[in-house]
Amino acid sequence: MRKVVLFIAQSLDGYIATHDDSLDWLFSVEGEGDNGYAEFFSTVDTVLMGKRTYDWVMQQENGVFPYPDKKCYIFSKADNEDTEYVTFISGDISQFITNLKKEEGRDIWVVGGGNLLHSFFKEGLVDELRITVAPRVLGDGIPLFKKGDYHLDLSLSGTRTFNQFVELHYEVLK
Ligand SMILES: NC(=O)c1ccc[n+]([C@@H]2O[C@H](COP(=O)([O-])OP(=O)(O)OC[C@H]3O[C@@H](n4cnc5c(N)ncnc54)[C@H](OP(=O)(O)O)[C@@H]3O)[C@@H](O)[C@H]2O)c1
Repeated sequence: MRKVVLFIAQSLDGYIATHDDSLDWLFSVEGEGDNGYAEFFSTVDTVLMGKRTYDWVMQQENGVFPYPDKKCYIFSKADNEDTEYVTFISGDISQFITNLKKEEGRDIWVVGGGNLLHSFFKEGLVDELRITVAPRVLGDGIPLFKKGDYHLDLSLSGTRTFNQFVELHYEVLK
C-alpha cells in the first residue's frame, strides 16, 4: 500500500520555522545539490499541507502553485474554494487518509506544518519520516513535534549527509 511520508527540514532543536514564518535560517545553510529533493519528489504523486503552509508557499511562489502535476489536498476547517490545483479538506482526516491510501498511486507527501502534523501524529497517519536537520539552533519557533498526547516508535532506515545537512530516515512502527 502507498505510504504517507513526511519530508521536512528542521533546526537542530526541532523547529520548522520561526514564529514569524521565516525559513531564512534554513536557506542560509550550505547543502549539496538539491539535498535529495528531486529524488524524493519523484516517489510521490500526492501532496498534503495545512492551510498556513499552503498560504506560505503561495506567497513564496508569488501566487503560482508549485506542484501542478501532483494531486494536492489542503487541510482547513474554514470555508475555502478549491482551485485548479488544490482541493480543500475539512472533514475527518483519518478517514480521508485511509481512503487515499487505498487508491492506486505513488507515495503521499505530507509537507507540514506543525499544526497539521500534530493531528497526523496523534492519529498515527504517518508511515515514514525523512527529516533533514539543519545546523541551526533557533531557541523558539514552530515545533515539528508539538507537545501532546501521542507517542511514536520509529526504526532508523538510514542517514545521509548533504554537506551541512543530515537526513534522518525513519519508518514508523505500528
Ligand atoms: N521547515 C520545513 O520544511 C517546513 C515545512 C512545512 C511548513 N513549514 C512552515 O510551517 C509554518 C506553518 O505551520 P503551522 O503549524 O503554523 O501551520 P499548518 O499546520 O501549515 O496549518 C495550520 C492550519 O491547517 C488547518 N488544519 C490543521 N490541522 C487540521 C485538521 N486536523 N483538520 C483540518 N484542518 C487542519 C487549519 O486551518 P484553518 O485555520 O483554515 O482551519 C490550521 O490553522 C510556515 O511557516 C511554513 O513555512 C516549514
